[in-house]
Amino acid sequence: MTIKKAIFPVGGLGTRFLPATKAMPKEMLPVVDKPLIQYAVEEAAAAGVEQFIFVTGRNKTAIEDHFDHSTELESVLVEKNKTQALEVVSRMLQEPGAVSYVRQQEPAGLGHAVWCARHLIGNEPVAVLLADDLILGAPALAEMTAHYKSGNMVALMEVPASDTGAYGIITPGKKDGQVTEISAIVEKPSPETAPSTKAVVGRYILEAGVFDVLSKGQRGAGGEIQLTDALAARIGHVPFHGFDFSGERFDCGSKIGFLKANIAFGLVRDELRGDLAEWLPTRL
Ligand code: UTP
Repeated sequence: MTIKKAIFPVGGLGTRFLPATKAMPKEMLPVVDKPLIQYAVEEAAAAGVEQFIFVTGRNKTAIEDHFDHSTELESVLVEKNKTQALEVVSRMLQEPGAVSYVRQQEPAGLGHAVWCARHLIGNEPVAVLLADDLILGAPALAEMTAHYKSGNMVALMEVPASDTGAYGIITPGKKDGQVTEISAIVEKPSPETAPSTKAVVGRYILEAGVFDVLSKGQRGAGGEIQLTDALAARIGHVPFHGFDFSGERFDCGSKIGFLKANIAFGLVRDELRGDLAEWLPTRL
């Protein structure tokens, strides 16, 4: 099914990346030469998304500017005949009116961020992409929309048992290829209480009922309004599936994940691979 709208929550504080994120959202951190948020927008566009909704926090201007014309830059590039650079900045612009911004007034959690976009979503299913989960290889959202029929769907990956406390963890049911039925979900369980080691990563397709649950404003783990809790509340009312995506996910919300992503994305670039592969072993 084609999903027309996507929400990009970018209202988090990004404390793990201070001081880099003091005046700039962590989603503007670049992997090689592109900000994380642009990878996510391109992944959504590749899945057929036409409307892009950013839920921003206090430091939103960098993102707004990034996805807008920079007339000064563009005229200098024209003047200097830098056609390739001009092509790079022109290609990334969406059509006028396709990008909207909503402000999350307080970082009250991912569920709260998603809920802040409710007035821009009708009754149709909507995608949610967390830019700090960066995926190399097959674009995950397109794989998900190809398999999505109704209800809620989340991207899944296997995590080490010691890491369950950092993720939403599901109780898996029947599996059919890359699609698994989900019978329960819990946010950040300890390894002792985790129902499995199947974790949710930042790609979701949500039905309208999730927004009704979020409207209640119930706080969960960490005192935040959790998207996981709203998904759990919809179990039994609508289908709930997990999807084992084909690509490789990098946790760019953590320093080590971000460094690995830069190396992995560098190694798949023709102009960088040779030098990088030659230099890396010399540092060990
Ligand atoms: P994180 O749990 O990684 O939190 O958010 P964070 O604040 O961004 O980063 P740290 O832990 O302080 O370093 C996961 C995703 O949810 C968004 C974030 O922007 C990120 O994409 N988010 C989180 C919001 O938009 N609003 C919130 O209130 C919380």
